[in-house]
Amino acid sequence: MKLAIPAETLAGERRVAVVPDVAKRLVTAGWSVSVQSGAGVEAAFTDADYAAAGAEVAPDAGACLGGAAAVIRVQPPSVEDAALIPEGSLVLSFLQPAAALDALRALAAKRCSVFSFDLLPRISRAQSMDALSSQATVSGYRAALTAATRLGRFFPMLMTAAGTIPPAKVLVMGAGVAGLQAIATCRRLGAVVRAYDVRAAAKEEAESLGATFVDLGVSAEGAGGYARELTPEELAAQQRALSDEVTRADAVVTTAAVPGRPAPLLVTREMVEGMATGAVVVDMAADSGGNCEVTERGSDVVVSGTTVVGMSNPPSGMPTHASALYSRNVANILALLSADGAVAPNWDDEIVSGTCVLRDGKPVHAPTAELLGSTP
Ligand code: NAI
Repeated sequence: MKLAIPAETLAGERRVAVVPDVAKRLVTAGWSVSVQSGAGVEAAFTDADYAAAGAEVAPDAGACLGGAAAVIRVQPPSVEDAALIPEGSLVLSFLQPAAALDALRALAAKRCSVFSFDLLPRISRAQSMDALSSQATVSGYRAALTAATRLGRFFPMLMTAAGTIPPAKVLVMGAGVAGLQAIATCRRLGAVVRAYDVRAAAKEEAESLGATFVDLGVSAEGAGGYARELTPEELAAQQRALSDEVTRADAVVTTAAVPGRPAPLLVTREMVEGMATGAVVVDMAADSGGNCEVTERGSDVVVSGTTVVGMSNPPSGMPTHASALYSRNVANILALLSADGAVAPNWDDEIVSGTCVLRDGKPVHAPTAELLGSTP
């Protein structure tokens, strides 16, 4: 059966859903792989690389998608993309149903089965398929490097003939997958790192990477290992307690998120104004509203001499390895969605059912069914 890898259409998206190495694995597994010409070019994979891997290189999206049984993307399809997706096909990508309702309606009308990495259960068996984690690893690394390169100071302590340079003080807020990678990267560069999170488990994980954990006594464990949203009172208390931590830091990296909710506001304008001239805030949560009050998505804002960087789509900024990791997640989940190069989801598997948004066009994810006005 044909598996299609169209070029991404979202502005600024440089990743590709399947890299040539993984395309080769899929061909060996029995798929007929079709990649749109140029789909991998921003991630440094040429059409010739795909051809050498045994894939067919299609001249445009229509030729790539025509007759496909499975369509693999990074970003969710737009309505225009959905128009080219064949009836009854399997569609796999990141997809937050509330933000893709029109495309979902179009795919429902075509009886497509739609799977979203955003819904993947965070269980041990699913780790090799966890694209949220693989891409968050890239984001955390990029956020740390962005802080290091924007700061007009060294991260490590340096003892030189011209005197000693003290290490930079970095505060990482949100110690999930991205935050832990940011901590590890800042530590490798020699910074002194403090870290903060509302989940109790984050303390041990941050400390194991060499950070000092800031314990404010606020605990907000939610369902599925995620944090819950704080009440307005808890959030205000948290902001008051964090103020000194922020103003003492040379660089602040924020990665805090709550699934399906706007990012929590952790760094106020007043805190930014209290930071030393030349300090840096890197807000990795800019795409979901930002953890900092002055953040502008995709831009730098300077407030009282402090630069606030609103990172947008950070994994796309390192497309080669982000795509390589994403592709491996794709190949691993495809093993549960197919057999011998044909679409055959194992519906009894909780990873398959948990990740499914539409099954043969019917919403099976309760919040999506509600948004589309039907019953699961
Ligand atoms: P995320 O991207 O949803 O959130 C990032 C971090 O922000 C989390 O650590 C969260 O606790 C923190 N946060 C939320 N509100 C906050 C606030 N008001 N102040 C400070 N921090 C706040 O989380 P991510 O990185 O996707 O991981 C979520 C959980 O899932 C973690 O416990 C992680 O260890 C676990 N996980 C389990 C996996 C598995 O077993 N397969 C795979 C990946 C993650």
